[in-house]
Amino acid sequence: MAVLQSTLDPGADRAVLDRRAMLEALREHDELAARVIAAGGEQAVTRHRARGRLLARERVDLLLDEDAPFLELSGFAGVHEPAEQPGARLLTGIGPVSGVECMVIANEATVKGGSLSPSAVTKQLRALEIAARNRLPVISLVQSGGADLPRQEEIFVPGGRIFRELTRLSAAGVPTIAIVFGSSTAGGAYLPGLSEYTVFVKDQAAVYLGGPPLVRMATGEEVDDETLGGADMHARESGLADHLAVDERDALRIGRQIVADLGLRKAGPGPSLPPDPPQRPAEELLACASSDNRRTVEVREILLRVLDGSRFDEFKPLYGPQLVCGWGSIDGYPVGVLANNGILFSPESQKGAHFVQLANARSIPLLFVQNITGFMVGSAAERGGIIKDGAKLINAVSNSTVPHLTLMVGASYGAGNYGMSGRAYDPRFVFSWPSHRIAVMGGSQLAGVMSIIRRSAAERAGTDWDDAADLALRAETEAMIDAQSGSLNATGRLWDDGVIDPRHTRTVLGLALSAVHSAPVEGTGRFAPFRM
Ligand code: COA
Repeated sequence: MAVLQSTLDPGADRAVLDRRAMLEALREHDELAARVIAAGGEQAVTRHRARGRLLARERVDLLLDEDAPFLELSGFAGVHEPAEQPGARLLTGIGPVSGVECMVIANEATVKGGSLSPSAVTKQLRALEIAARNRLPVISLVQSGGADLPRQEEIFVPGGRIFRELTRLSAAGVPTIAIVFGSSTAGGAYLPGLSEYTVFVKDQAAVYLGGPPLVRMATGEEVDDETLGGADMHARESGLADHLAVDERDALRIGRQIVADLGLRKAGPGPSLPPDPPQRPAEELLACASSDNRRTVEVREILLRVLDGSRFDEFKPLYGPQLVCGWGSIDGYPVGVLANNGILFSPESQKGAHFVQLANARSIPLLFVQNITGFMVGSAAERGGIIKDGAKLINAVSNSTVPHLTLMVGASYGAGNYGMSGRAYDPRFVFSWPSHRIAVMGGSQLAGVMSIIRRSAAERAGTDWDDAADLALRAETEAMIDAQSGSLNATGRLWDDGVIDPRHTRTVLGLALSAVHSAPVEGTGRFAPFRM
């Protein structure tokens, strides 16, 4: 197999500039990560601990196999909402429990009682979707006040889907386990109610459709927490608790035993190639994204720092050169790669569609590396059939059944986002670098288009044209679009599964590939007719 060679000089002005910009962005991310880890803040955490309880992160740590990696997902969910705790009061991710990769969903009870905000609902649904697509057992670590009541309007209807997805997973043969550490009220009671296996912590779990105040209001009955929905009652009388744990650690131990007893085996083919590290250090990835969207970077510089042994067999390198396609592997898992090296023209689109079909014929997962300002526009491109060729790529990507992983390293604009398996195209996982920008087009282009439209309208109406006012509006629009396009806004809204440090790219993609191999990896020959 060919080995990619680097031409990047890490000491060159441009590389130094790009590296500095990336480190600056990562500093902001570190500050946010510290806020996520601080959970509900000192006071709430002290109160929680005084009650003898563990934080969500500690529960997950004890559940997972010792020293095992944890692929945290949607870590900055909700960060676009000023009042929301980054991470949205919920910890989700994939890690091995008794040797089985599981999806873990843990409420962070120190933030607003672990109640579910709109972002938390989206995050929990995304975790369940990932579990379903990749056939990962789900372990819910429950302690939640249910819906964030003042925001119920935004939660009630979409939130109902959580329970539906949980039981559908189970019906599809994916095991579900609920370990209840505290309150699990109303809708939350259906988390254990709809899970296949349940563990309740003695003197802590409180599971009921309506709490004591609601019961008093509805029926006049005076009843305390423990009698109404305590762990002991559910273990002995209602039958909702399968296991009564003496404390949190005991509950997690029982959870691990339940997974061990499942006897699960992965359905995918697993790694088949040598998993040796790339020939260049991951540290240099910091200089591999452009700090200026108008200047593109050589995508092979990224690939050679991510793929096993920097090996890459390129497909049609002389044809449609701005879409780099080829075969390589990560942690021994074969992958077909489609990576942008500039705008998509007709040949690039045809080449991509052809390559997606080949990967499906061989049942090899695909990695899309997005750095794309869109498809080519203009009369030459239109006459050359850019619409029908772009449609071929979108057809191939939409109907492909091999797992897709998408990595967004720079711009992700317009239909380029679609053709390169953006979020709406159901990739199994989507990760971004902090340098990632996502929008229908760049801020200056959008502001320019709007200005041209305004000027034409003014000419038609015969009204005066004020250059200064137009310039001010252009600047305002550009700033607004640029702010909306940033990686934090995108990850807050769950347009990806997390913003990652570029240096962790290989590790993250390796873990994601391992997760997708929990399900069968099967390509298809069935596509929509390709418009020729
Ligand atoms: N929605 C919004 N905020 C909630 C909440 C909910 N469902 N449940 C708790 N909170 C908030 C509290 O207002 C408080 O906020 P603050 O820190 O800004 O003051 C914080 O979470 C902690 O609540 P507190 O009651 O002091 O904590 P606790 O550990 O003693 O009890 C609960 C936690 C969840 C058991 C208790 O708050 C409760 O019963 N909540 C309501 C549960 C419910 O009926 N839900 C209906 C779901 S449909």
